[in-house]
Amino acid sequence: MNFAYKEPLIVQEVAPRDGLQIEKQWVETADKIALIDALAACGFTRIEAGSFVSPKAIPALRDGEAVFNGIVRKEGVIYVALVPNMKGAERALAARANELNLVMSASQTHNRANMRMSCEDSLAGFGDIVRLVQGASAPVSLNATVATAFGCPFEGRVDEDRVVSIARTYREMGIAGITLADTTGMANPRQVARLVERVLAEVPAADLTLHFHNTRGLGLANVLAAYHAGARRFDAALGGLGGCPFAPGASGNICTEDLVNLCDEMGIPAGIDLVQLIRLSRTLPGLVGHEVPGQVAKAGRNCDLHAVPEYVRAI
Ligand code: COA
Ligand code: ZN
Repeated sequence: MNFAYKEPLIVQEVAPRDGLQIEKQWVETADKIALIDALAACGFTRIEAGSFVSPKAIPALRDGEAVFNGIVRKEGVIYVALVPNMKGAERALAARANELNLVMSASQTHNRANMRMSCEDSLAGFGDIVRLVQGASAPVSLNATVATAFGCPFEGRVDEDRVVSIARTYREMGIAGITLADTTGMANPRQVARLVERVLAEVPAADLTLHFHNTRGLGLANVLAAYHAGARRFDAALGGLGGCPFAPGASGNICTEDLVNLCDEMGIPAGIDLVQLIRLSRTLPGLVGHEVPGQVAKAGRNCDLHAVPEYVRAI
């Protein structure tokens, strides 16, 4: 394929939000703050640092205010907060989030399971949030996610026309950023290429994010398909943590260090320090109390060569 791979690929780190939201072991606020600050030092320009949702729905992230107030804001880094409703938006603005990520599923059933409301009610709430943000004293950007955009664990196939039409509705409402999320890893590369091409006909690449889970092992294949189709920004979680607690069978996001390794090996500029990232990923089992799915942190980089064994040198 005649493809130059020169266009930078922007990685938005979502471990502090998607990664930790499903973890059973409580992660101390100070450890969340240290993780976010360490991620910023690796070179990320966008970090989803937490969510402002019901503490009953996601107890693991109930300390959102303390986390946002505790991090050292690094210049040039956009700290994103996931928000489901007006109350969440007010909390996120008070905590000085730089960007709000509003979430609604393409499928009614998953939206009801996750947000306990219909898509229509979610959208009506987003309209109020847009007006709130437009009237805010400090500049705050807006992103909205189409969850289950590539398939729903309850309904199966999701109509592509509906996904495109939701993205269009978000833009018409004044929400610039659009994320297409494969909540439970149902996407395949052909489908991804098709949908990305369609959405890029309406949304500039600079405003589009792809959010893949590696539930069926297709995560990085989907990234490459989307990149070839013109997408430039991708969510990923350190160690491959992550998952939606309200989607049966959910598992981890694509793994950040595996993605950055792919970029480094292929010569795609990503601007992330992989050595530091791997070091940070290796601290995760101590934080969450179990092994994590990422592969490169276990294997090391290609260039991390091993000492030649004595018996080989003797031959
Ligand atoms: N932050 C904190 N508390 C919130 C809140 C928010 N954003 N939104 C609602 N609440 C509180 C209400 O104040 C109320 O509290 P009370 O019981 O002490 O009076 C309670 O939650 C119920 O409020 P209600 O508006 O009826 O919410 P609900 O029970 O219908 O749940 C959501 C709706 C959207 C708040 C909830 O489903 C949710 O937070 N979902 C997010 C799930 C998620 O994060 N999934 C993964 C990311 S995609
Ligand atoms: Zn996710």
